[in-house]
Amino acid sequence: MNRNEKFIEEINQGYASKGASILLGGAILDKTPLADAHVKIPLKTLNRHGLIAGATGTGKTKTIQVLSEQLSSFGIPVLMMDIKGDFSGIAKEGEEKSFITERHQKINIPYQTASFPVELLSLSEQSGVRLRATISEFGPVLFSRILDLNDTQTGVVAIIFKYCDDNKMPLLDLKDFKKVINYINEEGKEEITESYGKISTSTTGIILRKIIELEQQGGELFFGEMSFDINDLMRIDENGKGYVNILRLTDIQDKPKLFSTFMLSLLAEVYQQMPEKGDAEQPELVIFIDEAHLIFKEASKTLLEQIETIVKLIRSKGIGIYFITQNPMDVPSGILAQLGLKIQHALRAFTAKDRQEIKQTADNYPTSEFYNTSEVLTSLGIGEALVTALNEKGIPTPLAATMLRAPMSRMDVLTESEIQEINNKSKLVKKYSENIDRESAYEMLNKKIADIEAENNKKEAEQQESKQARTTQRQGPSTTEVVGKSVLKVLTSTTFIRGAFGILSKILKK
Ligand SMILES: Nc1ncnc2c1ncn2[C@@H]1O[C@H](COP(=O)(O)OP(=O)(O)O)[C@@H](O)[C@H]1O
Ligand SMILES: [Mg+2]
Repeated sequence: MNRNEKFIEEINQGYASKGASILLGGAILDKTPLADAHVKIPLKTLNRHGLIAGATGTGKTKTIQVLSEQLSSFGIPVLMMDIKGDFSGIAKEGEEKSFITERHQKINIPYQTASFPVELLSLSEQSGVRLRATISEFGPVLFSRILDLNDTQTGVVAIIFKYCDDNKMPLLDLKDFKKVINYINEEGKEEITESYGKISTSTTGIILRKIIELEQQGGELFFGEMSFDINDLMRIDENGKGYVNILRLTDIQDKPKLFSTFMLSLLAEVYQQMPEKGDAEQPELVIFIDEAHLIFKEASKTLLEQIETIVKLIRSKGIGIYFITQNPMDVPSGILAQLGLKIQHALRAFTAKDRQEIKQTADNYPTSEFYNTSEVLTSLGIGEALVTALNEKGIPTPLAATMLRAPMSRMDVLTESEIQEINNKSKLVKKYSENIDRESAYEMLNKKIADIEAENNKKEAEQQESKQARTTQRQGPSTTEVVGKSVLKVLTSTTFIRGAFGILSKILKK
């Protein structure tokens, strides 16, 4: 057996799969793509997470497109965090150009065009399905985290949540939260001190400032109703294709804190909503996080530990998470160690640091008698990548420099009118477009304050009267009693909903 034959046998055995699999492309040996050595990823191991890395323009986004298309075809829904806004083309059929035909001939994969069902999601005012959550659902732990509070400040936030909980006051949006802070600083000061202890105004002052900062980052668009139901990510269309849900995050690039907290909350929500799956034949949902370095940038040690924990736990729910980033060193080692699939596009060696990192990256791959890994890492062409996956038994597959197949759908973005067309047809856009502002802490406290004032006025008037009548002064009820009564009056009409985001505090306290 010559070297070529030996390599082909290694790839074909290493990537053999009994169950269904995703066909990525053809293996490359000595810079030549081969027609009879296909690189395939078993669906069964997709909940083991992965990394797609490589310098800008090397083909990462197209690789996600290739993966998403086949997932969708298998009826597996996808959630793509699209930071650059260059993923929407998957909704339309591609066009067979000569460079695609050539590529597919080399790797011996027939080319066909196809389009896939898409929902466009948005965290901001961009058109699409509005993704929102209430502050109550976020819970005190995550909400404090997003505000970057210290322990003392977090303690005060916990009291505020408790107070609202005890009084059945929903905290829906930032307006609610600010109102409660104002209330406990002023009218409600005695009431709070009596039941929950003294709260320093300098601490609430800091919290208030941080909330205003968050508002400036666009937080007020995210917090509120109606909250997004995770089950809406799991849809299959009438042809049995999984929906590709594209969350357009073009405006969040400069807000890493918002992004990382949002990601963590979303993962926690998905974790909580999904039933335990055990060892399934295919994943329930695959999540791609583009520009993943943004989550890890500026993230505290605790936040990183929490992401690590949730990534570990979510596997058993049949959810696969794929981090996409330029440099694999962007991903913390604790998370890197949990990733089963690695698709490494070309890295560029400009500086001594680059060369050092390439060497380190190469050392993290299984050894191969066919490749000098660090040399391959710098010489891969566009749309080529070094791949290692897990086979169905969970054993790492041999290293395969791979020429990837081309996407079946459009490699360019949708036009504005195509985007509109998708949104106009979407049931979800309608479902989530309503701006509900139901009675919550803001309105309830306003009413309560008005009640206190009315009560005080009445009392004053009565006192005046009785003073005049009898000239003996009578003691009125204490403010706390008055507040207590009006609380009862106001609060019997609303229901307080503690949402799923609260689960985080439970998981993460462990
Ligand atoms: N699998 C592929 N098949 C065909 N062309 C590709 C493939 N991957 C990348 N390309 C080409 O390279 C360009 C850049 O790819 P892209 O995925 O946007 O890079 P990245 O996300 O790494 O910046 C694409 O516009 C396309 O022309
Ligand atoms: Mg990209």
